[in-house]
Amino acid sequence: MTNILCIGAGYVGGSTMPIVASHCPQHRFVIVDINEARIAAWQSDNLPIYEPGLDEIVHRTRGKNLFFSTEVDKHIAEADIIFVSVNTPTKTFGQGAGKAADLQYWEKTARQILENSTSSKIVVEKSTLPVRTAEAMERILNSNGKGLHFDVLSNPEFLAEGTAVRDMENPDRVLIGGRNTESGQKAVEALVEMYANWVPRERIITANLWSSELSKLVANAFLAQRISSINAISALCEKTEADVSEVAHAIGLDNRIGKYFLRASVGFGGSCFKKDILNLVYLCEQYGLPEVAAYWEQVVTMNEYQEMRFALNMVASMFNTVAGKRIALFGAAFKANTNDTRESPALEVCRALLEERAEIVITDPHAIENARYDLGELAKRVTFEPDPYAAANGAHAIAVLTEWTQFTQLDYEKVYAAMVKPAFVFDGRNLLDHKKLYEIGFNVYPIGRPALTHLLSEVE
Ligand code: NAD
Ligand code: UGA
Repeated sequence: MTNILCIGAGYVGGSTMPIVASHCPQHRFVIVDINEARIAAWQSDNLPIYEPGLDEIVHRTRGKNLFFSTEVDKHIAEADIIFVSVNTPTKTFGQGAGKAADLQYWEKTARQILENSTSSKIVVEKSTLPVRTAEAMERILNSNGKGLHFDVLSNPEFLAEGTAVRDMENPDRVLIGGRNTESGQKAVEALVEMYANWVPRERIITANLWSSELSKLVANAFLAQRISSINAISALCEKTEADVSEVAHAIGLDNRIGKYFLRASVGFGGSCFKKDILNLVYLCEQYGLPEVAAYWEQVVTMNEYQEMRFALNMVASMFNTVAGKRIALFGAAFKANTNDTRESPALEVCRALLEERAEIVITDPHAIENARYDLGELAKRVTFEPDPYAAANGAHAIAVLTEWTQFTQLDYEKVYAAMVKPAFVFDGRNLLDHKKLYEIGFNVYPIGRPALTHLLSEVE
């Protein structure tokens, strides 16, 4: 039996480790966190994150070979392998503020491992980190003076929220980076063996540490770049009567381009895309590559443009004022099937409309509590309403900001009847049946397609 510890019970630690535990009954897994409320929630029937399929796996493994705890020091001492999945947000202070990764939680963890270890260990970077962070980790850990040896591996996580269980059960690839030394390669092999309990060998790839660390940032940068690319084209489509879905379909059939991640939207959100690209931008600047930095930074700039373009289009379409108008935001989560609202475009649109003094009502099947938290002081000016019909009641407009299936199943005749006329739908996800909505009487504004409007004077 190997004692495997995961430090950080957030979205990554909390959704990956139960799945690993379910496939490795021969090993013992502990997930620790300094956040007591979070650990208590993981131990309860009301898990702290909404992730389809995860409840069942946690219930199956918890108390058998999976345990949650706040006793970080004790479990460090007992562990053979330690995964570190603490948060690495964008720095908000000092050098690199607004771009560089804030490594304070990461370094604190390294020091805690150092202090509490009485045996040699494998330490695995699961968090997303700047390239060459493992070097700092190695230096801290191997300065222990206790004769202990630590092998640091990079094993970035590629799961997406909302599909975390599927992604972990059946990953496109597992990437493990290690040192090209005898003990480094032994450590890599130990991790390969763990994953081989359910992942086919050919999908477990190994690399040098720096390639592995950098691949994670690059994967997110490429994914986000595709969204910004199609969103840039969506703006052109709206000017030319081309349809962005048709364009995406036509180009995506080219195998070299591929069909995924070409859904035009109000913008990409989530805790990682922006953070990781800015981290990449900062690294390029630090290594004296300003042109490379500017190239990637544009992906984030385009995303901000798309979010603002959406909000400003709403104001312009509603006769240049939304002051005092009730507007129902359908969706707060940054994507469907998660309760996560970090960097959600829905909240950006909300902030922009509040600036215009609109009366905002937010409805979302799972993310209302997080939306309230993330909006901070502004939440006082927002109504939160779990029932979408009630949210739309008396509203001038609906803005669809998260692609929840629930929103496609509403009776839009009923919704329309309860709204102020002319009634508007701004579909930031191209989720709904626009033709049908138009026939009901709505003025419909999709992304990257001509608007369907009854307001004749506005057509030109
Ligand atoms: P999160 O904020 O949800 O969770 C991090 C957890 O670490 C928190 O619960 C925090 O309390 C805990 N923590 C911080 N310092 C600690 C310490 N010293 N000891 C014990 N616990 C500590 O973050 P997340 O979304 O899980 O992301 C974690 C990392 O994984 C980030 O680097 C992120 O970029 C990366 N990542 C995230 C995703 C995702 O889908 N969210 C996917 C891939 C990679
Ligand atoms: C993303 C990556 O997909 C994961 O591989 C990675 O592990 C993770 O970031 C991370 O490092 O945190 P995630 O952010 O959870 O996962 O979700 P995505 O499915 O990538 O969606 C991100 C955002 O892009 C969402 O707001 C989504 O609505 C938007 N999106 C996605 C589009 O607007 N269009 C698309 O075609 C696809």
